[in-house]
Amino acid sequence: MCGIIGYIGDKKAAKILVEGLKRLEYRGYDSVGIVTEEGELFIKKGAGKIDELKEKLKLYEMPGNRGIGHTRWATHGIPNDINAHPHTDCTGKIAVVHNGIIENYLELRSELEKKGHKFKSDTDTEVIAHLLEEFLKDSPTFEDALRKALLKLRGSFALGIMYTEDKEHLYFVRNESPLVLGVGEGEMFAASDIPAFLPYTNKVVFLDDGEYAMVSKNSFTVKDLKTGAEKKKEVQEINWTLEMAEKQGYPHFMLKEIHEQPKAVKEAIYGNLKTIEQVAREIAKYEKIFVVAMGTSYYAGIVAKYLLQRLANKTVLVEEASEFRYEFEDIVDKDSLVIAITQSGETADTLAAIKLAKRKGAKVLSVVNVVGSMATRLSNLVIYTHAGPEIGVAATKTYTTQLTVLTMLAIALAKILHTADEDYLKKLERELLELPKYIEAVLGYENKIKSLAEELVDKRDFFYIGRGINVATALEGALKLKEISYIHAEGLSAGELKHGPLALIEEGVPVVAIAPSGKTFDKMISNIQEVNARKGLVISLGDNKELEKVSKIFLKMPKIDELLSPIVYIVPLQLLAYHLAVLRGNDPDKPRNLAKSVTVE
Ligand code: F6R
Repeated sequence: MCGIIGYIGDKKAAKILVEGLKRLEYRGYDSVGIVTEEGELFIKKGAGKIDELKEKLKLYEMPGNRGIGHTRWATHGIPNDINAHPHTDCTGKIAVVHNGIIENYLELRSELEKKGHKFKSDTDTEVIAHLLEEFLKDSPTFEDALRKALLKLRGSFALGIMYTEDKEHLYFVRNESPLVLGVGEGEMFAASDIPAFLPYTNKVVFLDDGEYAMVSKNSFTVKDLKTGAEKKKEVQEINWTLEMAEKQGYPHFMLKEIHEQPKAVKEAIYGNLKTIEQVAREIAKYEKIFVVAMGTSYYAGIVAKYLLQRLANKTVLVEEASEFRYEFEDIVDKDSLVIAITQSGETADTLAAIKLAKRKGAKVLSVVNVVGSMATRLSNLVIYTHAGPEIGVAATKTYTTQLTVLTMLAIALAKILHTADEDYLKKLERELLELPKYIEAVLGYENKIKSLAEELVDKRDFFYIGRGINVATALEGALKLKEISYIHAEGLSAGELKHGPLALIEEGVPVVAIAPSGKTFDKMISNIQEVNARKGLVISLGDNKELEKVSKIFLKMPKIDELLSPIVYIVPLQLLAYHLAVLRGNDPDKPRNLAKSVTVE
């Protein structure tokens, strides 16, 4: 879970690398390093964030027109200067940056140590540099040594590699960790994600697993790692502007992304109008349906379960991908449909669940944001959420767009299967098109929510309760709060409250109740009264005057069908978490201990 960037061309590499790393910081931010070449390799690296190290290490002053860089999120070895990438061999001529995990590194390290190699760091990455050095002794070219070395590695890796003597090239490798090439005019880039080089080019080449690229300033060659055969790769144009990938005047990416939701949801709707029915037709026959995902995407999976049950009469099992992959091997089969939900398309657990499903002959439909990501390439069918790049570590617009496309899918299925009243489906479709407007209206409450956050800033525990489809909103609201404000929060179904958690409610404990009008509204009122009886502080979200009467703080929400409510009701909860995080002095874009895409299990 690190960020990699590479540059080769006529410009000064260091500046491009540092600025690119800054745009990749969401992938990891405990250490930074870059290597450039001018006759010899120049390496500077250290623990800390890019902005601090840029000055401290005078990174812009590094010479040379080619180089690679890395921003780290530690997996092996604590974040310190020595463990920061790049790592080199004994000669100091080979430098490697790595994202992922080399599973057999201990075994390789001990073999190499026996041959006299001296290691400096505790990382798994360093073995790659030494392996290359070893194979280079008997190889005609660096490329030949590279292939031999890479075939020894087990695990997930995206690599950037440079060798002093091979002045015309940089090398990049992809195996189960993301890597994309950027094709410029007389210059080439590579990175873990497109925004890293977006100021320079929007022409990209996605590498697939088991491929490596030899990149010079005017061309690139991609080959298969196992056979060495050249692969034909398509250069694709991405319509993400740099502006889209930068903050646009908001203090944080997260706030920008919260405010982008009306547009993102609109794109999700209009980007899928044509495709969704096609996908629905392909999956309509399945009765054995699993939804797999992690974190926020998993909560989107819970919403999907309710939608598919209520509208399409399907029985659905939602599982965390990390559990599914180990516990469901004997159950999933060729008659199963596995719906994988993943913003990044690179979450290791979700990819492993997809691979298991494929192995067992199941049909896999992925709901993904990042175009060309691994999940899209492993799946039989893909629905894109079209949310655009999400830089803030906490998922916001990617969640609401996931919910939007999943709702569209459930409606499309219901139409095909005739499992719901036609007029009701038409009403849902009309309201779906209005979603951007409803979200816009709710964003208008920001000042009110900010004042609420000021009132609540010293609270130590929060509870979020909901019923039916909004159990997911309670869970997601609590997750947002935990991950960026570091306040303890629990999301649960309101019915569960008196089976234990009610013991924790005492005077002033905030209980956020998600209570739109609908099937379970009356029951929600009863649960709220249980909280009031213990003097808990009820903050409710709903559209009904009855609710206002029983709540200490009431946020009036637009009147919208209960099945669509999760898409609108989560927005104030995102804002509440954001403002509490900022008031408590946290950086909501970079929550401690977390990274944007979790590419290790
Ligand atoms: C929380 C968050 C995470 C991700 C999870 C899955 O705000 O972003 O919980 O939802 O790590 O990531 P994806 O969707 O990329 O598979």
